[in-house]
Amino acid sequence: MYTTAVIDEIRRQVRQWRANGETVAFVPTMGNLHAGHITLVKEAKQRADHVVASIFVNPMQFGKNEDLDAYPRTLAEDQAALTAAGCELLFTPTPEIIYPKGLDAQTFVEVPGISDELCGASRPGHFRGVATIVLKLFNIVQPDVALFGRKDFQQLLVIRTMVEDLSLPLEIVGVETVREASGLAMSSRNGYLTADEKARAAALKAALDALATQIGTGTAIAAAITEANAALVDAGFRPDYLEVRSAATLALPTDADKELVVLAAAYLGKARLIDNLVFSR
Ligand code: PAJ
Repeated sequence: MYTTAVIDEIRRQVRQWRANGETVAFVPTMGNLHAGHITLVKEAKQRADHVVASIFVNPMQFGKNEDLDAYPRTLAEDQAALTAAGCELLFTPTPEIIYPKGLDAQTFVEVPGISDELCGASRPGHFRGVATIVLKLFNIVQPDVALFGRKDFQQLLVIRTMVEDLSLPLEIVGVETVREASGLAMSSRNGYLTADEKARAAALKAALDALATQIGTGTAIAAAITEANAALVDAGFRPDYLEVRSAATLALPTDADKELVVLAAAYLGKARLIDNLVFSR
């Protein structure tokens, strides 16, 4: 696998593949790769002739008091895992390459509405940072298809909306959440958990499962949410939000909505964990 921080090198290679009539799949990441990321790369391999990945801890999507500096950086291990999964080209830019004018003097992309709710309400500016970097990366790599995890359910919807609103010529594929045996969704931020916290972290997925079962069997949404919140607090979490929405739009559900999603964010020790579960009633 060839690794480069140089935008023109990425463009040159992709142009060469395209000239041969070959297709390109793209997997953007912030690195510290785990089995969830690698599943995206393997799925990408199934969908195109060549796979390009990026590793960039995007400062624009982190709030002032968030974990930008602490975010784990493990490039050598990531390169080995990407190579083994069939990735051929890795883009590893620096913030200076991506944002030469600095974060505040740079054009940005704002997807209205959904960007301000749920994770967007707790992390103002987060989805502006995500949409802006993802559009920039799409313009650098120019893939036929790009893959994103359903673990970041709201992020996937923000990106799908941006692609539709701006008529971007690529396909977006959502990939199922990869979990530990305990049910805990894999995340680079799980590395912030102590062994004891990691054992308790499985309560997040368990609470989502219980809530989906309850609503599926006729319990009122508000009552199911109260119970799930209590289970999280019992396990030592500090819940940020726990909400049931329409799975298609993330709007508040009406009685007509049958496909629902429960989304949660909760702090455990130093980590802010998110998870979600799509279910029907
Ligand atoms: P990062 O958190 O590194 O995640 C990169 C991709 O891996 C995202 O599409 C995410 O949804 C997916 N992913 C993470 N954990 C997963 C899991 N357990 N199962 C399946 N997929 C999983 O998300 C970002 O980076 C950034 O916001 C980014 C899109 C790269 C923009 O900076």
